[in-house]
Amino acid sequence: MSPFLLTRTLPEDATDAALRADVLKGLTRTPRTLPPKWFYDAHGSDLFEQITELPEYYPTRAEREILVARSAEIAAATGARTLVELGSGSSAKTRHLIEALTGLRTYVPVDVSENALTQAGQALITERPGLQVHALIADFTARLPLPETPAPRLVAFLGGTIGNLLPAERAAFLASVRALLSPGDALLLGTDLVKDEEVLVRAYDDGAGVTAQFNKNVLTVVNRELGADFDPGAFDHVALWDAGNEWIEMRLRSRAAQTVKIRALDLTVDFAAGEELHTEVSAKFRKEGVRAELSGAGLGLTHWWTDREGRFALSLSTAR
Ligand SMILES: C[S@@+](CC[C@H](N)C(=O)[O-])C[C@H]1O[C@@H](n2cnc3c(N)ncnc32)[C@H](O)[C@@H]1O
Repeated sequence: MSPFLLTRTLPEDATDAALRADVLKGLTRTPRTLPPKWFYDAHGSDLFEQITELPEYYPTRAEREILVARSAEIAAATGARTLVELGSGSSAKTRHLIEALTGLRTYVPVDVSENALTQAGQALITERPGLQVHALIADFTARLPLPETPAPRLVAFLGGTIGNLLPAERAAFLASVRALLSPGDALLLGTDLVKDEEVLVRAYDDGAGVTAQFNKNVLTVVNRELGADFDPGAFDHVALWDAGNEWIEMRLRSRAAQTVKIRALDLTVDFAAGEELHTEVSAKFRKEGVRAELSGAGLGLTHWWTDREGRFALSLSTAR
């Protein structure tokens, strides 16, 4: 068997149908909304990698610090022979974990970005001879047809990506992850923690404007895929902290009254001056909240590690 397999779990036209459905639903409701998974075409994945290197964007460095310090402990606690990673992107930080998991036989990265999966998978099979990489192009919020691989299995969900799901979506998602775990398997979850508002907002509104480009990339995706005529320059990037919900919101604010046509949907959308299109929520967490959400899905927290400054946490949990 080739050491690198790439499986599309949905037919290509299913992605197209899902984008159409999300755009139709999101642009005809109030407030107008587009889900964050559509940021990540090849350019969006590349912009996200640039974000991870920005001085203001601490989560990647903080999570990497924990992985460098704790991967040996994670390996000892799990003895994983299969690592499944949801929303794996470039798999850059995951390399620390893969190196420490000496008994690892199979790595199953799961992402909507085919480009990110191919680049990461090809690099990993040369870096770690003997490792089988079975990449899945899939939506991690849908039922995941995981390949048959050696047990025990460690499911990793890093980068704080769980914060992009709303509370009810998180509950459904964690229940579906719990259903993937057999006795002896574990979940490794990365969660960004509640902290000073200024630090949080700057992480999503950097001085170089890379996050603004990333946010506007969703308009470029809709233009290309659905024949829309969004002018990304006619929208301002907005990042704000919602203290009640303890989440960051990213929005695109229309600079003036304007009309946008989405040809493939035969849809015309009028934006008022100042009207905001909601594009991403990034929830921040506290230890007791993470424990409670895991518990609600039938998962028991066994380990909790943070970086030295207490900005980000990695937790390990098992099925109860
Ligand atoms: C915030 S980035 C994190 C990337 C990487 N895990 C890290 O920690 O740097 C989110 C990743 O999840 C992927 N993604 C977003 N929504 C997804 C979905 N519904 N299903 C599968 N992958 C998704 C994106 O393509 C992207 O690679």
